[in-house]
Amino acid sequence: MWVFGYGSLIWKVDFPFEEKRVGYVKGFSRRFWQGSTDHRGPGRVVTLIEDPEGCVWGVAYKLPAGREEEVKSFLDHREKGGYRVITVTFHPRPPLAPPPDQALLYIGARDNPDYLGPAPLEQIASQIADATGPSGRNAEYLFELAESLRTLLPEDGDTHLFSLESLVRDRIEGRKTC
Ligand code: SIN
Repeated sequence: MWVFGYGSLIWKVDFPFEEKRVGYVKGFSRRFWQGSTDHRGPGRVVTLIEDPEGCVWGVAYKLPAGREEEVKSFLDHREKGGYRVITVTFHPRPPLAPPPDQALLYIGARDNPDYLGPAPLEQIASQIADATGPSGRNAEYLFELAESLRTLLPEDGDTHLFSLESLVRDRIEGRKTC
């Protein structure tokens, strides 16, 4: 069983896995359109939206043999804030990649109660800069994700993510006094 992570599952790996692979899924784009009421909120975290031209990079984890259900239950609990599981085709990063494989993915679909949907980027940035929940600052979630993607996948030009990173940094810097 493989699980594809495109958000906190990339940088907060608090579960066991047997193998991990960098790669992408097609037909989606990553957006900060999911509300977080449990971990980082009330703030915003990422979900995937359907986009025929889209492609989202992330990391797929192979769950440990014989412990798949146990680890999946842990992830179901961790991702319980509006996410449900779908199956997608995962494409490992070329050129030395094995063939595409099926993977599970946690998605915050439009019909979940925490879904916030689109908003102007400036407004999303302000909400993220201001929010803190039991798991920490919403800005930390954004910065960790942006930093991990930059390190793992310099080829990923996710303008939504990196524009937000810079807007939120500006807001936080702008508040500092000497
Ligand atoms: C994921 O990381 O794949 C799901 C969304 C999140 O937990 O940030």
